[in-house]
Amino acid sequence: MSSSAIKSSNVVWHESAVTRGDRERLKSHKGVVLWFTGLSGAGKSTLAHAVEEACFNRACHTYVLDGDNVRHGLCGDLGFTAQDRTENIRRIGEMSKLFVDAGVIVLTAFISPFRDDRERVRKLMPEGDFLEIYCKSSLERCEERDVKGLYRRARAGEIPEFTGISSPYEEPLNPELTVNTGEWSIEKSAAAVLRLLEDRGILRPCERV
Ligand code: ADX
Repeated sequence: MSSSAIKSSNVVWHESAVTRGDRERLKSHKGVVLWFTGLSGAGKSTLAHAVEEACFNRACHTYVLDGDNVRHGLCGDLGFTAQDRTENIRRIGEMSKLFVDAGVIVLTAFISPFRDDRERVRKLMPEGDFLEIYCKSSLERCEERDVKGLYRRARAGEIPEFTGISSPYEEPLNPELTVNTGEWSIEKSAAAVLRLLEDRGILRPCERV
């Protein structure tokens, strides 16, 4: 939403006495958004939850925001038109920004098919707080797995504007990380994300056995 679209008037931002840095010191790790993007069935949620578990086991404060779940509540009024998807991602972006300020490692698993929408979220936060992780899996592979049976229904014309079939997916041009979820094991994929977090100084390297 542009500032001209803000309808609340007479509101003043209240600075907190407890800062993001204070919260991060308490937790001994930085806040960050791991933004998983990719086709439905590419494995975004599975990977986000595996990474969350690994981070949690290293005593990190984590939270997963998942497309299918958020659409039951916060974004329950939105469908899958381009406009609704843009609004979906805008809301999640704003929420992620608050999570980062809370010092949390937030992992988001949304198709987020449009480059502009993802870039808008990136620009909401200071550089380095938004790490885009492309969960790369071919349409054929996603369709072959079709865990939720949605591709079959989309091909049958029962679901309009289905990503990859009748609605576009714009691949990231310069993501912080590409994970070949269509081909890699979940262990290999999760290890790649954890390495990224260590390289960025979000997580301390742990002794690997
Ligand atoms: S996004 O495009 O706005 O980012 P989001 O990640 O929230 O989508 O929701 C995607 C999930 O909604 C899919 O994993 C799938 O289970 C379900 N879904 C239902 N209809 C569609 C559709 N037309 N296109 C894509 N996913 C859909």
